[in-house]
Amino acid sequence: MKEIRNLINITDLTLEEIDGLIDVANDIVENHEAYEDICAHKKLATLFFEPSTRTRLSFEAAMLELGGSVLGFSEASSSSAAKGESVSDTIQTVGCYADIIAMRHPKEGAPIVGARRTTVPIINGGDGGHFHPTQTLTDLLTIKRKKGRLDNMTVGLCGDLKFGRTVHSLIEAMLRYENVKFVLISPQELQVPDYIKERLNEEGADWKEVETLEEAMSELDILYMTRIQRERFFNEEDYIRLKDSFILDLKKLETAKEDLVIMHPLPRVNEISTEVDDDPRACYFFQALCGKHIRMALILFLLGIKREA
Ligand code: NCD
Repeated sequence: MKEIRNLINITDLTLEEIDGLIDVANDIVENHEAYEDICAHKKLATLFFEPSTRTRLSFEAAMLELGGSVLGFSEASSSSAAKGESVSDTIQTVGCYADIIAMRHPKEGAPIVGARRTTVPIINGGDGGHFHPTQTLTDLLTIKRKKGRLDNMTVGLCGDLKFGRTVHSLIEAMLRYENVKFVLISPQELQVPDYIKERLNEEGADWKEVETLEEAMSELDILYMTRIQRERFFNEEDYIRLKDSFILDLKKLETAKEDLVIMHPLPRVNEISTEVDDDPRACYFFQALCGKHIRMALILFLLGIKREA
């Protein structure tokens, strides 16, 4: 039997496999027609137990652009989870209807439980405050397209580094490239969890924590802004106190490099002023487009489908 590959954590992919996905994502843009029907008769199920715009819709757009079809649900309340069904049973059932599953769940580790009993590939579209590997693939493609490389750079990550799963996965991924420095910009309460600090130390990374954007700005090649994750806070007062900790505006960009790449997984709330959107360094909507291209490449990879040479 063919081994099923899942994507739960970004480390499930080797660097060579990530390079391969980036190459296919670029080939999809250059040779779009060659991919139009490549997934004909294949079905992607999107099982979203938590809200999403970009991740779910880019997955669905990706499969539709490959000539396949999509089914699924966008909130737990419209699935049998509302009746008390376990994630494992839901996934096992959907594996009878679809060839590949992308899921998002508020509980850390839910996709691992789901993957145990499935017969089709499972993709983690975000599990609680844990990981978000397809956002990381999106981020890597964006950085590669904008900078032409994934090594030798200083990456600033700003905002809710405690609960922000995109940050955790991106650090894990970037740790594998040469000479990447990390500047972690957050209030004390929202610093990255200890296990991420341990990973940074284990890998001998060059990293530091600062509390203001101004301190870091001039040295950054990438600035990765994030939203304060309101839904993961234990109380509303803490959220209100911290929610506007960082707001990127044109004034703060005065000391930034000319070729800085400003990223954000989106949705944004207040953390980037809309006046920044017209700055050529603002790349967050381009990033959302990259998300579709890399998810097309990922679907093909996990289904074992290649375009004919
Ligand atoms: C992120 C997420 O869901 O973790 N969104 C996304 O997938 N692009 C970021 C967020 O919700 O803040």
